[in-house]
Amino acid sequence: MSQTSSFIPELCIVVPVLNERDNIAPLVQAVRETLGGIAWEIMFVDDDSRDGTRAEIMRVASQEPRVRMIHRVGRRGLSSAFIEGAEATFAPNIAAMDGDMQHDETLLPKMLQSIRDGAEIVIGSRYVPGGGIGDWDAKRAGMSNLATRLGQMVLKTKVADPMSGFFMLQREVFDRAMPKLSAIGFKILLDIIASLPQPPRIVELPFQFRTRVSGESKLDAGVMRDYLLLLIDKMVGHIVPVRFVLFAGVGGIGIVLHMLVLFSALKLGRMEFTTAQELATAVAILGNFVLNNKFTFGDRQLKRAKLWRGLVLFAAISAVGAVGNLSVAAFLFGPQMTSWILAGFVGAVMSLVWNYAVSSAIVWRR
Ligand code: GDD
Ligand code: MN
Repeated sequence: MSQTSSFIPELCIVVPVLNERDNIAPLVQAVRETLGGIAWEIMFVDDDSRDGTRAEIMRVASQEPRVRMIHRVGRRGLSSAFIEGAEATFAPNIAAMDGDMQHDETLLPKMLQSIRDGAEIVIGSRYVPGGGIGDWDAKRAGMSNLATRLGQMVLKTKVADPMSGFFMLQREVFDRAMPKLSAIGFKILLDIIASLPQPPRIVELPFQFRTRVSGESKLDAGVMRDYLLLLIDKMVGHIVPVRFVLFAGVGGIGIVLHMLVLFSALKLGRMEFTTAQELATAVAILGNFVLNNKFTFGDRQLKRAKLWRGLVLFAAISAVGAVGNLSVAAFLFGPQMTSWILAGFVGAVMSLVWNYAVSSAIVWRR
């Protein structure tokens, strides 16, 4: 593709934004200054900001034809925003950069040079000599460190800063990763590297993470939950859906809870077995419901009136699952004389699959 006689820029910078009004103009100005002789464009991806971000982008675009925007409604997430931005450009090279001035845009020309020199992915890295995390407190630094180590486990290649939100890659590399992307949460770089069939040629260039001046961070508990989902999806997502893994995990906790309550009711409360068993079942169902509502289906959480309706439905579904479990186990254990371990296991798996399928279709339906 010849750059001299083409309207297609050599580089597109995809910038996901959520309530970043006061950062738009400074960012475009900084990019314009630093990218002097390079053919570039900026693709803002806005998730329906409430602070006038889009009006500001339009104002800036009226004086800068290289500014573009995608407006998404009813969607959220830094990763999916980047993916949509990347798919909307023709540029052969794509950068991801935050819209809050925390990423050092003066690194962009060096990143592009590395790509021209043959790198497939160039990372703006906080964790190579010369890089740094700026003014983060010990807690955030510690969490980033832990998250980085976890992330490195799902990668087949050595990367110092797979959690960086600042990177550049060849569009061909992005296209290769595309079919396998999880697109969950914040960590798109990790997602891309883990989705590639072959480890890419990576170069890491140091940069200092800047302090935020305007607006505020969107990092919250949901971001951490999403990160765990991403890791699970990258590890076992090709075998079972990540939600099913969470659902099964919660089910496991439910069994432990059941046994604890049963034990206490029998030994400490001196209850009759049937009563104790009923109590334990009720507590386990309630516990499972609360945990599934918070984690497994955290993105579709039920609240207020819907919460009670959901609980009743969930209890009914679990009851049917339990009956199914018993009959399958009885069938296998009965005339065939199969081992009780196998019978119990098959029964449990069957009710797990039933509970999961029906709960996600009815209780936590989209
Ligand atoms: N479109 C869209 N949708 N944009 C979002 C969303 C979203 O749901 N959430 C955040 N953003 C935008 C913000 O407006 C900002 O431009 C950028 O994404 C980064 O969000 P911050 O909330 O400022 O993130 P951070 O500074 O805590 O974390 C950043 O640095 C980490 C370390 O490099 C992010 O880049 C992380 O991905 C990165 O791991
Ligand atoms: Mn930020």
